[in-house]
Amino acid sequence: MPRKVILDCDPGHDDAVAILLAYGNPEVELLAITTVAGNQTLDRTTLNARRVCTVAGIRDVPVAAGCDRPLLRELITAAHVHGESGLDGPSWPEPDVPLADVHAVDLIIDLLLASDREVTLLPTGPLTNIALAVRREPRIVSRVQEVVLMGGSATRGNQTPAAEFNVLVDPEAAAIVFEAGWPLTMVGLDLTRQARVTPEVLNRLLRLGSPLSRVVVQMLEAYRDHHRRQSVDPPGLHPGIWPGELEREPPLHDPCAVARVIEPTCVECVEAFVAVETQGRWTSGMTVTDFRPSPGRPFNARVATRLDVDRFWDLVVSAVERVGLDAARSGGSTA
Ligand code: BDR
Ligand code: CA
Repeated sequence: MPRKVILDCDPGHDDAVAILLAYGNPEVELLAITTVAGNQTLDRTTLNARRVCTVAGIRDVPVAAGCDRPLLRELITAAHVHGESGLDGPSWPEPDVPLADVHAVDLIIDLLLASDREVTLLPTGPLTNIALAVRREPRIVSRVQEVVLMGGSATRGNQTPAAEFNVLVDPEAAAIVFEAGWPLTMVGLDLTRQARVTPEVLNRLLRLGSPLSRVVVQMLEAYRDHHRRQSVDPPGLHPGIWPGELEREPPLHDPCAVARVIEPTCVECVEAFVAVETQGRWTSGMTVTDFRPSPGRPFNARVATRLDVDRFWDLVVSAVERVGLDAARSGGSTA
């Protein structure tokens, strides 16, 4: 039986591919796509989610907008990674997928309470919506099969030396989510940096030959070009730390969390204790990770460590193929 999933995202190029992977894989029953401010402002991430659904012909999944800012802090966006639109690259058609008339936090709570079986929460942006949902309705904890989130790092960050972007944007929300007591898997940078968008990957996608696959390639090329402009050769990053980080191919973070839900063996995990730093002058947003057991301090997370890279890209390519075929059949993709 497929796993029921709510994808809470801030598209974002890698979020866009996460949507396609979640929708296009039969192991997932996608209940909703909810949006949050992160990579761009909420109006842009929501527009982008609707754009992706439009070109992919996704018309049977509600799209609901959530929080437009972190719980306590000013919003930080990632235009340097995803562009001013949040999804630079393709020339997007006017979206024809409606926005649900419900706040994302309400929709998440309603779906969880109404579901006949447990639901997996899959956040791939800042954790503001998820934190608010659990604060407003603590009963949802027992309805959640697992939270599988893209965020954090057991080693170093990307937005700062200590912090990964999604956690840095709203560390207070992340702390609430990590401390909520539900099964939680952290698919952080240590894992996602293994998922490089190589020329071979782009060629495989291009060979699919569908209008949707061309849009995906345009997105990923723009994502790669932003990555090359802003993040290669960071001074002081020794190649021995994170081998491969000096490569010119960007990591595609968010679909890695989806892959873990679809096929757990694709993403190896190790149990750990993870705490979110909310105070540090230099370390705010750090996910302090301890793999050592300690009496009186139980592990609260599974931390993703190793990706089956070939299997991961097989899953992504098959999903884009499947969704692209369906979209072409229903006249969904207009690019
Ligand atoms: C995360 O930050 C965002 O830019 C990506 O969409 C991803 O969710 C990686 O740090
Ligand atoms: Ca994201």
